Amino acid sequence: MPFAHVTGWGMYVPEPVLTNDDIAKMVETSDEWIRDRTGIRERHIAREHEFPSTLGVEAAIKALQVANLAPTDLDLIICTSSSPEYIFPATACIIQDQIGATKAGAFDLQAACTGFIFATNMAAQAIRSGSIKNALVIGTEVLSRFVNWKDRNTCILFGDGAGAFVLQASDKPGGVLSAVMHSDGSGADSLTLLGGGTHYPASEATIHEGKHFVQMDGKEVFRFATRVMGRAVIETLEQVHMTTNDIQWIIPHQANYRIIETAAKYLKMPLDKFVINVDRYGNTSTASIPIATVESIQKGQLKTGDKAVFVGFGGGLTWGAMVIEWTGPIAAKKNVHPEQYRQFARLRSLIRRAIRFIEGLFSRRTL
Ligand code: UT7
Repeated sequence: MPFAHVTGWGMYVPEPVLTNDDIAKMVETSDEWIRDRTGIRERHIAREHEFPSTLGVEAAIKALQVANLAPTDLDLIICTSSSPEYIFPATACIIQDQIGATKAGAFDLQAACTGFIFATNMAAQAIRSGSIKNALVIGTEVLSRFVNWKDRNTCILFGDGAGAFVLQASDKPGGVLSAVMHSDGSGADSLTLLGGGTHYPASEATIHEGKHFVQMDGKEVFRFATRVMGRAVIETLEQVHMTTNDIQWIIPHQANYRIIETAAKYLKMPLDKFVINVDRYGNTSTASIPIATVESIQKGQLKTGDKAVFVGFGGGLTWGAMVIEWTGPIAAKKNVHPEQYRQFARLRSLIRRAIRFIEGLFSRRTL
């Protein structure tokens, strides 16, 4: 049975930064309160022309560059987002077209902030089954467009950004070693975005009632997160007969510094074993774990051979964790340049659209 290794990683955040002081000009809050209660100092906010797909493409290309893998060699793309571009088509399909992943099946997976853990596990399982060789997993968010900038309970928390992993099959042991996925729909009301679906189709009333904004019972989500995080870490470690002593890093979902602190206490682990960057990005939902991973590699923390636990939680309610033995890129015979495929992809997409248009004209005539 092949192993599923993470061989590429990339992140992208939009340039504009919104500080706590900037938010204090919009709602009644302060830099001190936000830092104290959440650990967040600033977050990045997408510009008007940026979308989950544009952020996701940047992160994906970087991940493919690290893996030295051509987009045309991808078999599968899973995109996970709490702020997808549309209800459909899937953001994954838009990214597939833009990077030129011509043979990949692409779909979106929705598990709120736990999405990246669930998606990485699904990609790893597809590789482990032997049915595919190369997969791309992307977590991408422009949550700033779903946030009510008049609601101080939520607008202080979220930021925009994207992160991506390339997973590849190898006979060498390592990569994704174990994973747990959990859900509890009885807590669905705690964190929602209700408008625009079939229960509340977009209407003047839904807009008036603010149903197109993220709604959250902060205290409830906080309690849930602190309850499940530590337990999920232990559960996934037990699957591979490991303890916290066997791992070098925990890379948690970056929602709130105090939640991470509570998990560290529960696990009796020092905080410096946790990768934390919530101060500079806020909560980027599905993108937070890959962004933290990329930064930890850049800082020289996470290295080849290290064992790490990824752990996340979010709306649904959902939560999950996985143990990964970190691999790094598989040595390749020749260098590929994934970014060059982007130019061809644009041309290819244009030609396919033109052909579809012409076919449409002819088929109308023959009908
Ligand atoms: O990916 C998962 C996404 N969600 C989360 O992870 C959220 C988890 N929850 C949290 O992070 C925290 O619950 C919050 C940061 C949202 C809130 O922190 P808290 O310590 O739970 O505050 P609180 O809601 O208990 O509010 C305490 C006080 C209240 O005032 P009173 O009633 O004690 O007078 C709030 O009205 O702080 C007030 N408050 C604020 N004050 C200044 C609430 N939000 C703010 C604010 N600035 N932004």
